[in-house]
Amino acid sequence: MVAKLGDDAKLPLAVYGNVPRHVAIIMDGNGRWAKRRLLPRQAGHVSGIAALRNTVAAARDLGISYLTVYAFSTENWQRPQSEVSALMGLFRRFFHADMKRLQKENVRVRFIGRRENLDSDIASLVVQAEQMTEMNSGLNLTVAFNYGAREELMRAAQALASDAANGRIDPATISEKDFSDRLQTGGFPDVDLVIRPGGEKRISNFLLWQAAYAEFVFVEALWPDFGKEHLEEALKEYASRQRRFGRLAPEDTAAGNPPDHGVPSQRTALS
Ligand code: FPP
Repeated sequence: MVAKLGDDAKLPLAVYGNVPRHVAIIMDGNGRWAKRRLLPRQAGHVSGIAALRNTVAAARDLGISYLTVYAFSTENWQRPQSEVSALMGLFRRFFHADMKRLQKENVRVRFIGRRENLDSDIASLVVQAEQMTEMNSGLNLTVAFNYGAREELMRAAQALASDAANGRIDPATISEKDFSDRLQTGGFPDVDLVIRPGGEKRISNFLLWQAAYAEFVFVEALWPDFGKEHLEEALKEYASRQRRFGRLAPEDTAAGNPPDHGVPSQRTALS
């Protein structure tokens, strides 16, 4: 049973205790949602935008600082031309219809993904949205558009290699921070929670570095049906988990409470 957080905006922290700072969502299931209604796939994407609006509002209410959503992957170009065009059209519509409101709501909008092969008007909208909201200090909304994590990682590696070749960095001293600073999410906190609606259980080339220690919640509901209740349910599940980052659980290290059989537990140490 999910607590009704909408009834009192002050409740979230009290109820869940542990709100993830950075939530990433793979917005999946638009096509199936449309198919079940005998509608064209594009209709599913249109409803997907409505779900995105609701989710952004809910994330703000629930005290999430960073919300990163997967809107279009580098692999999505392989879909039929009609669907790709519809998604690009929706992207334009999203901007024209939503940017003013997001600005008013103090949301900082950013994009990750390759920009070079986007239509020039879309590339300009991306820059415009980022510039328009760069002073905002509320929710950080990042849209992964024409995004692929392997490509992002490869580009970070290229940037490091170029810095090394130019003598700006010593290869022997390259740190995880040097690497993550060269990702498009440089300066963001790591992802705490990945939510994937739509019933599939995979990461699909999304934020591979950033989600290294994220918790995963898979939701059966298709993305167009996703709403505040699903987000609340996912936060509740997150709050019930123990994150150990490869360390022992506190109860296993406390004096008088040794790990299983008195020897370090590999299961716990490696999980
Ligand atoms: C995956 O569902 C969804 C997408 C490829 C597009 C996601 C896009 C939106 C939610 C709207 C666009 C958002 C912006 C900001 C423009 P699918 O089509 O793979 O569904 P299926 O697995 O049921 O076929």
